[in-house]
Amino acid sequence: MSMLDTKAIKKDFPIFEHEKDLVYLDSAATSQTPQVVLDAMNGYYTSFRSNIHRGLYKMGEEASEAYESARASVARFIGAAPEEIVLTSGATASSNMLVRMLEESGSIFPRTPLGFQGESLEDEIVATVMEHHASLIPLQELAKREGLAIKLVPVGLAYGIDYDAAEKLITPKTKIVACVLASNVLGTINDVRRLADLAHKVGALMIVDATEAVGHIPVDVKKLGADFLYFSGHKMLGPTGIGVLYGRKDLLEALPPSVFGGGIVEKVTGESATWTSSPKRFEAGTPNIAGAIGLGAAVEYLGKVGVENIHAHVRELTSYAFEKLAQIPGIHVFAAPVEQNVGIISFTIDGLPAAATALQAGVHPHDLAQIAGDSNVAIRAGHHCAAPLMQTLGVPATARASFYLYNEKADIDALIEAIKKAQMMFAK
Ligand code: ALA
Repeated sequence: MSMLDTKAIKKDFPIFEHEKDLVYLDSAATSQTPQVVLDAMNGYYTSFRSNIHRGLYKMGEEASEAYESARASVARFIGAAPEEIVLTSGATASSNMLVRMLEESGSIFPRTPLGFQGESLEDEIVATVMEHHASLIPLQELAKREGLAIKLVPVGLAYGIDYDAAEKLITPKTKIVACVLASNVLGTINDVRRLADLAHKVGALMIVDATEAVGHIPVDVKKLGADFLYFSGHKMLGPTGIGVLYGRKDLLEALPPSVFGGGIVEKVTGESATWTSSPKRFEAGTPNIAGAIGLGAAVEYLGKVGVENIHAHVRELTSYAFEKLAQIPGIHVFAAPVEQNVGIISFTIDGLPAAATALQAGVHPHDLAQIAGDSNVAIRAGHHCAAPLMQTLGVPATARASFYLYNEKADIDALIEAIKKAQMMFAK
């Protein structure tokens, strides 16, 4: 395994210039922003700020070109075509929009004035227990509105998906299979292709939440067998408030919009409207133009560093963190083994039953996060918006460290020091 030159990488991120002591281990919540992304957004605001697809003047054309070029960069980055990329405000918006689009289309869940009839009463959605709330809750709401059953595939060996259970749960009744590509709690990189093949065998759609994966591991929508896939820009060096919904071309073309307004219409009368082609059909109103341009710059930057290189670097850090955490008695790690891990480790500090010595005291994840924060070590604590998974793990909360291209082994040493300090503080 090889490591990146973090000294050089850190210079690309102004935050580390402003916060010289920062140990940032919370990229799974939001990553930091390189200067090139800020420059790209600033360039739009200072040199050619104007609306897109409207202005017939030079700046308007420049803005439209920059926006479309960002779409093309994102498409290339995940092995898609530009017309398969809908730019949204983030993964949550993508997931909600998608559910509404599928619902409104009537082709997957055919509506009748009386609701579902006949066989469709038995329709099912299969998701995994690892889903983030952003994916799971819109599906739950869909299930409630349309009277569908929702089934969750449990966790199996080594904090992976229980694929045997998935095989049993995915049946001809299944209309949608949803799976997170990388768990934001366990770090597990799931075998989405395996689930996609099961889904397609029974004619179901495969929806993939790739939020913790894009920009962290190579992602190719075709290789995954994804019909739809979404992610946020802010976890992959892009700005906040921008995200992506990928949809297979033939599927997107067949779907109606779920958000209505200007820029998506072909013909409008006093009573109704017809829609323009996808993906514009799904981008009503003025989009986050600067955000899209920033995301395009993030993708270009990631491409230059190399996602494979980033993942190799993060694997090395993950392995080092496992080793260091294992040396502290009373720590319980909830994370996939390094080979299947995207760079996320959740853990609790349970302490030892007869903890007489300071170094073995139990510490609540929130207390740890706060004590670590006092030393400028940023980690996350809580249920990580994945409550069903936490129920499965049998814990209300975990502490979580996540690694990215700018992290180094010294960051993990600082975390270990913070854990020891917290244990001392809670020692009886
Ligand atoms: N989904 C983000 C996280 O896991 C916010 O922290």
